[in-house]
Amino acid sequence: MHVAIIMDGNGRWAQKQNKPRIEGHKKGADVVKQITTYAANHPDIQYLTLYAFSTENWKRPKMEVEFLMKLLDNWLKKELETYIKNEVKFDVIGDISKFSPKLQKRIQTTKEKTKHFTKLTQILALNYGSQDEILRAIKKLCRLGLEVSEENFVQCLDTANIPDVDLLIRTSGEVRVSNFLLWQIAYAEMHFTSTLWPDFTPEELEDIINQYKKRERRFGGI
Ligand code: IPE
Ligand code: IPE
Ligand code: MG
Repeated sequence: MHVAIIMDGNGRWAQKQNKPRIEGHKKGADVVKQITTYAANHPDIQYLTLYAFSTENWKRPKMEVEFLMKLLDNWLKKELETYIKNEVKFDVIGDISKFSPKLQKRIQTTKEKTKHFTKLTQILALNYGSQDEILRAIKKLCRLGLEVSEENFVQCLDTANIPDVDLLIRTSGEVRVSNFLLWQIAYAEMHFTSTLWPDFTPEELEDIINQYKKRERRFGGI
């Protein structure tokens, strides 16, 4: 199954303990490692997509944006061994051409070094916005001169060759999708939890998956 998570609440987690917002992002990165490792060893999860930076997140203070870029670069450098150890293939959706050449290179290297792994595909959504993705897909379709069909359109999305989302989770209590995978969640089951991302655990994920398994997915049928 394909699990997608809107990892929200890092800032509020930090504020609650009178720490700067960036401390929440640091703790949030630790949780990404835990959840990825857990998902890699979970028999039901083949794809895990994590919303890490949206096209709207550039609106944040420059210092916070710069910190997030640095955190991402360090994280990919440090956690390459986690990907290798757990046989996780790393992939990205979003327009990374807006990132520094150094970070783009780090992303490419991580993809290259993990491309043969098959236990889990972990997809980070980086400078990702669904509306931006859909517009880029339409431009690509036109550029390639392809007929407008569902099949061709889907192949022009960043998620080409990745199945649609089965389960969408958002932490922090907000009940909105914030421009995440609008096409790909057409028939996803949704779960909103008030847990802040830095407090999210593999146990809660397991509980959510167990609830998901009890749901009846009808896809418009009866
Ligand atoms: C999610 O946590 C992480 C990113 C968007 C990078 P937030 O930073 O949005 O935390 P809150 O929502 O302000 O608590
Ligand atoms: C969504 O969280 C984006 C990520 C988790 C990366 P935000 O905190 O940016 O979303 P809004 O602004 O509250 O909708
Ligand atoms: Mg937020």
